[in-house]
Amino acid sequence: VPEPPVSPRQSFTEMTELVLPHHTNAVGSVFGGTVLSWIDVCGAIAAQRHCRRVTVTAAIDELVFLAPIKLGNVVRLVGRVNAAFRTSLEVEVRVEIEDRRTLVRAPCVSALLTFVGLDDNGRPAEVPPLLAETDDDALREREAGVRRAERLARKPVRSLGLGPSR
Ligand SMILES: CC(C)(COP(=O)(O)OP(=O)(O)OC[C@H]1O[C@@H](n2cnc3c(N)ncnc32)[C@H](O)[C@@H]1OP(=O)(O)O)[C@@H](O)C(=O)NCCC(=O)NCCS
Repeated sequence: VPEPPVSPRQSFTEMTELVLPHHTNAVGSVFGGTVLSWIDVCGAIAAQRHCRRVTVTAAIDELVFLAPIKLGNVVRLVGRVNAAFRTSLEVEVRVEIEDRRTLVRAPCVSALLTFVGLDDNGRPAEVPPLLAETDDDALREREAGVRRAERLARKPVRSLGLGPSR
């Protein structure tokens, strides 16, 4: 039985972090891997809200840090599902730094992640289709379809020892 479509609104995920000393590197900004971990968690929650099953991170596209996140900053992450394919989803996570006094948010980094839904045996399982409710939802879905084709064309081959079952 096909599952009913799920809108990006239903899986929308917001996460807030406060930068503490143990998150920082030698120059007082957050260690990049820590931000990546927050991004992965935020994206995974959005993906799991869409699929209602366990998801794993299959790929993370290029990440560029536009501004340093400093000790004491409040960091907001928002995750939204851009597109649902067969067993995979594209999720965008945007990271913003919130000004302590004005609460104005400045963009810091955004990432596109691919998550794969798994069945109870750990095999890729079909995910519910996306329900595009707005023009923006539909545009994001189309753009994600283009990126998916590019991403899969770059997919490492098993013979190089980079595939999944080595
Ligand atoms: C992701 C994973 C399940 C894909 O396994 P696979 O044997 O390639 O399975 P399939 O060929 O059936 O592909 C499953 C889905 O993954 C997608 N996929 C596989 N490799 C991908 C890549 N490099 N980029 C984007 N999507 C990818 C496929 O397109 C497919 O999605 P679709 O059904 O919507 O088209 C497998 O590589 C894996 O388990 N990787 C480790 C994931 C993990 O543990 N992550 C946590 C960090 S260690």
